[in-house]
Amino acid sequence: MSDPVWEKLYQEAKQAAIDEPALADLMKEVILDQPSLEEALSVRLSRKLAYHATPEGYLKEVFNEAFATEPELGERVRHDIVAIKTRDPACPSYIAPMLYFKGFQAITCYRVAHHLWNQGRHELAYYLQSLISEIFSVDIHPAAKIGCGILLDHATSFVAGETAVVENNVSILHEVTLGGTGKEKGDRHPKIRHGVLLGAGAKLLGNIEVGVGAKVGAGSVVLTDVPPHTTVAGVPARIVGKNKDDAAFGMDQHLECDGNGESH
Ligand SMILES: CC(C)(COP(=O)(O)OP(=O)(O)OC[C@H]1O[C@@H](n2cnc3c(N)ncnc32)[C@H](O)[C@@H]1OP(=O)(O)O)[C@@H](O)C(=O)NCCC(=O)NCCS
Repeated sequence: MSDPVWEKLYQEAKQAAIDEPALADLMKEVILDQPSLEEALSVRLSRKLAYHATPEGYLKEVFNEAFATEPELGERVRHDIVAIKTRDPACPSYIAPMLYFKGFQAITCYRVAHHLWNQGRHELAYYLQSLISEIFSVDIHPAAKIGCGILLDHATSFVAGETAVVENNVSILHEVTLGGTGKEKGDRHPKIRHGVLLGAGAKLLGNIEVGVGAKVGAGSVVLTDVPPHTTVAGVPARIVGKNKDDAAFGMDQHLECDGNGESH
């Protein structure tokens, strides 16, 4: 079956191994010796997360099993890679997210933790969350729902709470918080609709909705709903404009994902 994302990754890795001998072993081990994108991710991410008590081999099995049991995970990962390559002007290749970008790596690990969560393996899901937080400085509750085509750029200090929802084709910069106000219980975290841009350092608090294609300015504190295709900024955030584009950075890829954050 044709797999254009994996084919591109493989060709790039072959060339990179020739161009940069210092990285030849990495390219070989992580990509060129692997039969599929899923197994390549399992190798790369288990190596990154292996820490203290959990051997790399066991984590690799956990990743392989998750990808095998829920094939949609691999599809979402491919959409993420394409979204990053297309939307991030600093992304030079398809291999860059897999090998170097911790936002992509953290979201992919979260996807496995979310899979475990949905299978009732909460202890292991929490453990993965803690490893992701330590290794990538990204803290996503495994019950949070995140769609595909996600660009989590720079990623440091991104936090998403238990009942947060992020739909498809959303761009998120570093230091964004999707948190509770501390005054609510139950369903208490933001709902981010598709095509939204969340600027660096934006703090979104409470069970609020950020409408389709909206933009949140860097450093904003958002405490109320944001209408679709609207730009908000400031502390607390106020409406500062309307944007006719359907997506963050005008970069909606219109990817055909298999659903959105609500359904996973
Ligand atoms: C400050 C906080 C506790 C709310 O306190 P509160 O006394 O209940 O305040 P209210 O929600 O009634 O809001 C009062 C006013 O302060 C404003 N306000 C509330 N929180 C604010 C914040 N963080 N920054 C700026 N203004 C804020 C509100 O817009 C409101 O303004 P208005 O009267 O002009 O409409 C809450 O908003 C907050 O920031 N909690 C911290 C949550 C957090 O850090 N979560 C991360 C979890 S990972």
